[in-house]
Amino acid sequence: MTTSGSRAFFLFLFLLLLGSLLHLLYYSFLDRKLEQQKCHLKAPQRNISVLLWHWPFGRSYSLDGDKCLEMYNISRCFLTDNTAAFSTADVVVFHHHEVSRGMSPLPLHQERPATQHWVWLSMEPPVNSVNLSQLNGLFNWTMSYRRDADISIPYGKTVLGGDELNFQAAPNRSCFVSWVVSKYRPHQARARVYQSLKKYIPIEVYGRWNKKPLSNKKLLPTIANCLFYLSFENSEAKDYISEKLWRNAFQAGAVPVVLGPNRTTYEALAPAGSFIHVADFKSTADLAAYLKRVAADKQAYEKYFQWRHTHRIKTYTDWRERLCQICVKYPSLPAHRVYQDLEGWVYS
Ligand SMILES: *[C@@H]1O[C@H](CO)[C@@H](O)[C@H](O)[C@H]1NC(C)=O
Ligand SMILES: *[C@@H]1O[C@H](CO)[C@@H](O)[C@H](O)[C@H]1NC(C)=O
Ligand SMILES: *[C@@H]1O[C@H](CO)[C@@H](O)[C@H](O)[C@H]1NC(C)=O
Ligand SMILES: *[C@@H]1O[C@H](CO)[C@@H](O)[C@H](O)[C@H]1NC(C)=O
Ligand SMILES: *[C@@H]1O[C@H](CO)[C@@H](O)[C@H](O)[C@H]1NC(C)=O
Repeated sequence: MTTSGSRAFFLFLFLLLLGSLLHLLYYSFLDRKLEQQKCHLKAPQRNISVLLWHWPFGRSYSLDGDKCLEMYNISRCFLTDNTAAFSTADVVVFHHHEVSRGMSPLPLHQERPATQHWVWLSMEPPVNSVNLSQLNGLFNWTMSYRRDADISIPYGKTVLGGDELNFQAAPNRSCFVSWVVSKYRPHQARARVYQSLKKYIPIEVYGRWNKKPLSNKKLLPTIANCLFYLSFENSEAKDYISEKLWRNAFQAGAVPVVLGPNRTTYEALAPAGSFIHVADFKSTADLAAYLKRVAADKQAYEKYFQWRHTHRIKTYTDWRERLCQICVKYPSLPAHRVYQDLEGWVYS
C-alpha cells in the first residue's frame, strides 16, 4: 500500500469510528428523553370522581363497586349517578339529549366548585343537536365521537392484531345488499341514494321504516347473509361514523357501502381497503355496476377483507367504558377551558 493510500485508509477508519460514536451518543440521549417522558406519564394520580347527571336516553347501568377498575382496569376513577355528590365531584357529565329537551335541568342554582369541570356529552351529529345556543359558556370539556373533542369516544375503532385469519370472505350468500333503517326521512341524502340505487340492484330493507324490524339476535346474521351492506349515516357530518359501519357491516362481515364523512375521514378511521364510498361514483348507476362487478369477481370481493389478517375492530357500547375514559384523559385535559360558543364548536 502506498503511504497516501494507507493515510486515506486510516482517515476512513477514524471517520467511521467517530460516526458510530456520535450515533451511540445520540441514541442514548433519545432513550433518556423517552424514559423521562414515561416517568412523567406515571406521575402519581389522585382519585377522580365522575358524576353522571342523568343516564343517556334513560338506560341505566349498575355503578356499584369500582366499575372502572373491575371492568376496564382503570384505577382511581369513581363513577356515580347520585346527584347529591355534585358538590364533591371533579367532573360532572351532562348528556345533551335530556338537557336540550328540558328533561333534566342543569344545576345552575347550585354553587359550582372552582375546580369542577362540566362535560357536554353527545354521540349525535349536529342536525340532531337542538337548543345548543342556550348552553353556551357553561361547559369546560366536550365528549363525543369527534376526534377533536376533549374526550373522544368513537363508536368503534380499528386496532392492530388480526384475529380472523380463517375468515371466509365469500361463503354462499343469498342476498346482494341490505339496509337497516328505522328513521327514514325523504330529504336525507341516504334516502335519495337508496331510491336511485334500488332501480339498478335489489336491496333488502329492514327496520322500523319498512315494518321489518330485526331483533338484536337477528341483526348480524341477517346482514351476514348479504354481500354488501349500506352503512348510510343519517347525515354527512365531520367524523360521524356510527355503529352502522363498526357493528352492522364489519361485525356481520358484509362489505360496507358508506355514505357519511368524506373518504379521507374513512381512510383515517376504518381499516385500509375495507369499504366502498358512495362519493367515489359519478352516479348510482356507476355504483351499482361496480357492486355487480365486485360480486362476480371472487378475488376482487375478497380484497375487501384483506385487513382482517392484520387488524380488528373494537366497538364501544357500554356507557361505563366511555365514562371511565374521562379519567384516562383527565391529566392531559386543558384545565381552564370554557366553551363560550358550544353551538359554533358543534357546527365547526
Ligand atoms: C382513593 O380511593 C380509595 C378507594 O376508595 C381510598 O382508599 C383512598 O384513600 C383514596 N385516596 C385519596 C387520596 O383520597
Ligand atoms: C328547546 O328548549 C325549549 C325551552 O328552553 C323547549 O321548550 C323546547 O321544547 C326545546 N326544543 C326541543 C326540540 O326539545
Ligand atoms: C368551567 O367553566 C365555567 C364556565 O361555565 C367557568 O366558570 C369555570 O371556571 C370553568 N372551570 C375551570 C376549572 O376552568
Ligand atoms: C355453497 O353452494 C354450493 C352450490 O350451490 C354447495 O355445493 C356448497 O356446499 C355450499 N357451501 C356452503 C358452505 O354452504
Ligand atoms: C374531509 O372532511 C374534513 C372535515 O370533516 C376536511 O377537513 C377535509 O379537508 C376533507 N377532505 C377532503 C379531501 O375533502
